[in-house]
Amino acid sequence: MTNSETKATLSFSDGSPSLEMPIYKGSIGPDVIDIRKLYGSTGMFTYDPGFMSTAACNSSITYIDGDKGELLYRGYPIEQLAVNGGDFLETCYLLLNGELPNAEQKKEFVTTVTHHTMVHEQMQFFFRGFRRDAHPMSVLVGTVGALASFYHDSLDINDPHHREVSAIRLIAKMPTLVAMAYKYSIGQPFVYPRNDLSYSANFMHMMFSTPCEPYKTNEVLVRALDRILILHADHEQNASTSTVRLAGSSGANPFACIAAGIACLWGPAHGGANEAALSMLEEIGSVDNIPEFIAQVKDKNSGVKLMGFGHRVYKNYDPRAKLMRETCYEVLQELGLQDDPLFKLAMALEKIALEDEYFVSRKLYPNVDFYSGIVQRALGIPTALFTGIFALARTVGWIAQWKEMISDPEQKIGRPRQLFVGSAKRDVPAIDKR
Ligand code: SDX
Repeated sequence: MTNSETKATLSFSDGSPSLEMPIYKGSIGPDVIDIRKLYGSTGMFTYDPGFMSTAACNSSITYIDGDKGELLYRGYPIEQLAVNGGDFLETCYLLLNGELPNAEQKKEFVTTVTHHTMVHEQMQFFFRGFRRDAHPMSVLVGTVGALASFYHDSLDINDPHHREVSAIRLIAKMPTLVAMAYKYSIGQPFVYPRNDLSYSANFMHMMFSTPCEPYKTNEVLVRALDRILILHADHEQNASTSTVRLAGSSGANPFACIAAGIACLWGPAHGGANEAALSMLEEIGSVDNIPEFIAQVKDKNSGVKLMGFGHRVYKNYDPRAKLMRETCYEVLQELGLQDDPLFKLAMALEKIALEDEYFVSRKLYPNVDFYSGIVQRALGIPTALFTGIFALARTVGWIAQWKEMISDPEQKIGRPRQLFVGSAKRDVPAIDKR
């Protein structure tokens, strides 16, 4: 970042001395006002619930232009990466290292990740403690956090080699753990990873093969899953990424930080929206019921939201939603489900919402979650596992952001302040005086 010639001056109507603050310019996007001297100079904090106007860090990884509907990973548009930028592991390499790999670098990276896909054999015993119908996100929070107990050789966050090994282990083992959570939920045996398969083909194999017969992956479906992973890989300082950064700022080990990110992603306002969007479509049931549902959404007292719509940053179409809709159509075509009623219902709902003043005036457009549930259901992924797939994909983004934070000389333990509106100091009365 560079200092801007312009400075920000804060002046007070009560004649208190004004305060000059530096403005920094990024390479693209909004400038920032450095308010770090504010409290020391004025005794006041800023107030910004939800951090609507607050930059918590500087980052070089992902950039979103909400008005243009643009998403860049290390400067590359998501449309190019998802369509002709190679596979998910190339995107992982890009997010972790800042540049796309050449053929030799990719081969080495794929080999390294492939040879870390197995989990310690004792990990299976953690699963047995869960009910079979446990939500997969509860299983992932538990098992990913538990990884820390197996890898004492890569917990020193100040050792770059430890950080590198932990990053690879997390990217490599997430598909194995997500597939194990699924197999456990349906009472089928765990399937070991296979080193002869690509990252996404291996995941489909661990999810859907059984020891009883050979399983052949469908390349169209594997490519669709790979694209879903690319679309979900990173997204600036969203709630779960901010959770990972805050957890990491205390020096917690990377496995614990990623477990914290999984917990945050679980919420229906965030990563849980794909599961909620599909449930919403199933609840609406048919195109005829759309007007009544839309009326409910407009009724503030109903508490009903159009799941898969709206975004804190995108005030235009989420570019991932467009790509997800294309992927959805390709998969349904491949499976002969082009007349899938839920897909038709989703497109009808999208069309109606995009022409409705209530949504247009609030700049509510489909986000990445609106179509991802339909395509994942078509791939045979159970609804409860949708957010687990999101967590699988976002692990590389979380760990890339965590690594960036750890090596940022400006980083400090995160510790926001507050506007206190509770009781001033008072004495404790004896119980017979209360
Ligand atoms: C993800 O941050 C990220 O980058 C997240 C993510 C990522 O990749 O990490 O992109 C992934 O989380 C995508 C978002 C998935 N969530 C959903 O689809 C759930 C439904 N969406 C909403 O909950 C909401 O849109 C949020 C949480 C996504 C954004 O909320 P904001 O930015 O805080 O906006 P807001 O709640 O202030 O809404 C502004 C207005 C309000 O109405 P008014 O008070 O002005 O009358 O729009 C309304 C809201 O009530 N509104 C909606 C709505 N979303 C906002 N009304 C109906 N349906 C919705 N979905």
